[in-house]
Amino acid sequence: MITRQEITEILRGYEQRQITIGTLGSHSALNIFKGAKEEGFRTICICKKDAEIVYKRFPLADETILVEDFNELLSDNLQQRLRQKNTLLIPHGSFNAYIGAGRIADELRIPLFGNRELLGWETDREKQREWLQRAGLTLPEVFNDPNDISGLVIAKFPGAKGGKGYFLADSPESFHEKAEDMIRRRHLKREELENIHLQEYIIGVNAYPQYFHSLLRKEVELLGIDKRYESTVDSIGRIPAREQLRITLNPTYSIVGNIPITLRESLLPQILRMGEDVATVSKDVAPPGIIGPFCLETVITDDMKIYAFEISARIVAGSNVGIGTSPYAYLNYGEGMYMGRRIAREIKLAIKNNKLEKTVY
Ligand SMILES: Nc1ncnc2c1ncn2[C@@H]1O[C@H](COP(=O)(O)OP(=O)(O)O)[C@@H](O)[C@H]1O
Ligand SMILES: [Mg+2]
Repeated sequence: MITRQEITEILRGYEQRQITIGTLGSHSALNIFKGAKEEGFRTICICKKDAEIVYKRFPLADETILVEDFNELLSDNLQQRLRQKNTLLIPHGSFNAYIGAGRIADELRIPLFGNRELLGWETDREKQREWLQRAGLTLPEVFNDPNDISGLVIAKFPGAKGGKGYFLADSPESFHEKAEDMIRRRHLKREELENIHLQEYIIGVNAYPQYFHSLLRKEVELLGIDKRYESTVDSIGRIPAREQLRITLNPTYSIVGNIPITLRESLLPQILRMGEDVATVSKDVAPPGIIGPFCLETVITDDMKIYAFEISARIVAGSNVGIGTSPYAYLNYGEGMYMGRRIAREIKLAIKNNKLEKTVY
């Protein structure tokens, strides 16, 4: 594991007036680059060939480095090149999905904006649960054994990317039946059944608040809220019930996009407190706690109970709905504030106040 000391030393070798903001070309890269440009930084994109068109048509990266595989980010050569350009990396979902929290912790010798240790927490459902529970949030129940299922559950697998392969069951029998169906449809591998996570299914609507914990302002800001647009589950309402039954639909939850939402103002006290409680507890969980962006995944029921089932300790793709204009960011900052820009603004202020060392890990 790379020590804090090592990162601090790397940062001390940087020319802080010439910081470059870099990230992998996917997920929320456009959001991050636009924000960095608007705050006056140089930008660098580590990108795969098939995505290059994105960063050409939206020319926000001053430099693009083409790689065959995102894991090349860990090569000595590329790391050396990035350090020479005084690069700070902004981690997003693709860092965990394609490189993995373990290798990031052990091999990435480039300062990351945020708390590197917490990045690893989001790949571990048990750890996340502990964090959210300690923060006093309401969580769905968990069943340890498929044979204990009583009531509607959602079955989740560690290998599933973006919710593909998840399914619902309401009894041990329906669980085994659906698991077989998912294996047949190649959404799932048989050996993955062992690492299943069975969660009480909460009937309600999704809301994913995006927060920013500013060490400089000493405050948790709410910057935006989105909901997910998931295939196939969001298409079910478009099919009449008779056809649904005939084709025995077994919906999946592959994320395709995000939709911005604003919540009833009466829900905001709870949403704001949840963000603060999570940030407060994070100081014990992994000192000095969460830095910068994080997001809660919640379901809100018809009696306005908010269940939290996941946390991401970094920028989420849902914050892309706020690029240019997010109502909650507007309320605090006026026009043109959004997560990518908020990150760059914090880095800029940290440099100015000689506090950059406190914000990168
Ligand atoms: N406990 C739950 N109750 C109701 N819906 C849920 C629950 N957990 C997950 N979902 C739905 O399934 C989707 C994917 O679940 P999630 O745990 O966020 O997977 P991922 O690992 O892909 O982030 C969510 O966006 C939500 O629509
Ligand atoms: Mg999720």
